[in-house]
Amino acid sequence: MALRPLEPGDFPFLMQIENDAFSSGYSPYFLREMPILFGNSSYIAIAGREPQGYVAAAREQGSRRGWILSLAVRPQYRKQGLGRALMKAGLEGLAAVGAREVFLSVAPSNEGAIALYEKLGFSRGEIVADYFGPGEDRLIMMKDLTSGEVG
Ligand SMILES: CC(C)(COP(=O)(O)OP(=O)(O)OC[C@H]1O[C@@H](n2cnc3c(N)ncnc32)[C@H](O)[C@@H]1OP(=O)(O)O)[C@@H](O)C(=O)NCCC(=O)NCCS
Repeated sequence: MALRPLEPGDFPFLMQIENDAFSSGYSPYFLREMPILFGNSSYIAIAGREPQGYVAAAREQGSRRGWILSLAVRPQYRKQGLGRALMKAGLEGLAAVGAREVFLSVAPSNEGAIALYEKLGFSRGEIVADYFGPGEDRLIMMKDLTSGEVG
C-alpha cells in the first residue's frame, strides 16, 4: 500500500471510491475540486495498483482548525489498515499547514469509523440533530494536534 497527495487526475477514482462507500456522498463537482482546493492535506491510498481509499482534510480559513471532510475505503480493501494510514496522513498534513485542532462529523451509528477515530485520539463531542438535513444527525469529534502526536 502506498499513499500520496490527491491530484486532479484522481477524479474518476474519487467518484468510484465515494460511490462504493456512501449511498449519498459528495457531488462530482466537489470531488473534482477537492484535489485543487485541499491537495496539500488530502491523500489517496493505492493498493492492488489502483486507488482504493482517500481522505480529504482542509484547514479552516482564518483559524487554526482543520476538518476531516471525508474518509472512505473501498469495501474489499477495508480492515487492512488503509483507513488508519489515510487518517494519520491527513492529520499530519493538517498539522503541516498549521492546524492545531481537528474536527470531523460522523453518523452516530457508524461504530466502525467512530472506533477508528477514538483509536487515533479523537474524543466525542455533541450529537447535532439534523446536521445534514432532516434525520441526518451527526456526532462531532475533535482532536488536539498540539502534542505533536497524530495517533
Ligand atoms: C471507516 C473506514 C474508512 C475504515 O477503513 P479501514 O481501512 O477498514 O480501517 P482500518 O483497517 O485502518 O481500521 C483501523 C481501526 O479502525 C477500527 N475499525 C475499522 N472498521 C471497523 C468496523 N467496521 N468495526 C469496528 N472497528 C472498526 C478498528 O478498530 C481498526 O483497528 P485495528 O486495526 O486495531 O483492528 C471504512 O470502513 C469505510 O470506508 N467505511 C465507509 C465510509 C465511512 O463510513 N467513512 C467514514 C465517514 S465519517
